[in-house]
Amino acid sequence: MVLGVGGGIAAYKACELLRRFTESGHDVTVVPTEAALRFVGAPTWSALSGKAVATDVWTSVHEVPHVRIGQQADLVVVAPATADLLARAAHGLADDLLTNTLLTARCPVVFAPAMHTEMWEHPATRANVATLRDRGAVVVEPAEGRLTGKDTGKGRLPEPEELFELCSQVLERGAVEPGTDATPLDLAGRHVVVSAGGTREYLDPVRFLGNRSSGLQGYALARAAAARGAQVTLVAANVALPDPAGVSVVRVETTAQLRDEVVGAAATADAVVMAAAPADFRPVDVSSSKIKKAADGSAPSIALTQNPDILRQISAERARPNAVIVGFAAETGDDSGTVLDLARAKLARKGCDLLVVNDVSGGAVFGSPENEAVILDRDGGLVEVPRGSKAALAHVVWDQVRARLPR
Ligand code: CTP
Repeated sequence: MVLGVGGGIAAYKACELLRRFTESGHDVTVVPTEAALRFVGAPTWSALSGKAVATDVWTSVHEVPHVRIGQQADLVVVAPATADLLARAAHGLADDLLTNTLLTARCPVVFAPAMHTEMWEHPATRANVATLRDRGAVVVEPAEGRLTGKDTGKGRLPEPEELFELCSQVLERGAVEPGTDATPLDLAGRHVVVSAGGTREYLDPVRFLGNRSSGLQGYALARAAAARGAQVTLVAANVALPDPAGVSVVRVETTAQLRDEVVGAAATADAVVMAAAPADFRPVDVSSSKIKKAADGSAPSIALTQNPDILRQISAERARPNAVIVGFAAETGDDSGTVLDLARAKLARKGCDLLVVNDVSGGAVFGSPENEAVILDRDGGLVEVPRGSKAALAHVVWDQVRARLPR
């Protein structure tokens, strides 16, 4: 693979990305721009990749590097991609080794832009990003946070660990069997919304009712969608995980907040996947001060009221009639029916298109990196997903969503 490095301060983070690639066994050729070398020198790239590093097309000309490097790549990742580099790539310039490589590569290309918010939002950059995405490149949405100076905003390079995860999935999907319907970026141009985690309903400023949802499956869904080219909004309820690269993360605590964010995002969504575990009930009264123990030793009673059912609401409203709506259900089966009986009834009750069903009789799903499931559709179809990673299940869910999206 090729790691292209643009001339931005975030070049130092690309060292960590490179380490992760080489340590996981990839053969990486680093192609920095001349400006990148002002931030991180050639010896660093060379030592970390174990290869010679060039920025221009005049080094080792007999090996025709300006064509060969791109032709031989399985993946090209540009991190950080500056505004200037995006512009040069969008316009097909070939004034250094990296831009030559971008023109000769026929593999998936990932750009991870990093720049100040003003530059990212400038119409020129917007147009260049749109052009690159139209041509099939993955242009990762920058993260929000502290920028180089004192300012904060959108424009940070995502954390190397998450960028690595995204690139690994793009690389894997790049190897999707030719001739099958599956293409690596089959969610490009789509907006998808994923909810994750478990909501909390406060009793007082320090206590809440909550549940065991870790958010891992929702985060895996968001990552997988980003790797397939989607614009992803992840509404996360109380999740202690790093933001996935290229994903817009909205943090919430309560079911009411989750509903507001999901309903708002659903207005422009091609798919909504409700992987969150919203608390079904909330206390009728929330004390503004900490509830104290009673002197007589009596325990307080908590009166509860039902929360809105978000999945049911978005399925009934259908803000976008062609959007695919997916629910999750963790079931144990009981006297009234088996796991599948209960799941079929739930699918009908909720009115969604697909229901991903976990059998949690053994209690093994929460916080586990693995999952196994059955995906039911409203027409009676059933897909069994054998035990595997939550990422693998996420991709099967997107396969099913993709098959139901209008072309
Ligand atoms: N869900 C929701 N809003 C709620 C509760 C659940 O949108 N207030 C969604 C979950 O995100 C999930 C699906 O509904 O996608 C099923 O969740 P589950 O807790 O199994 O549904 P309940 O309706 O609460 O069913 P049960 O009575 O079995 O608890």
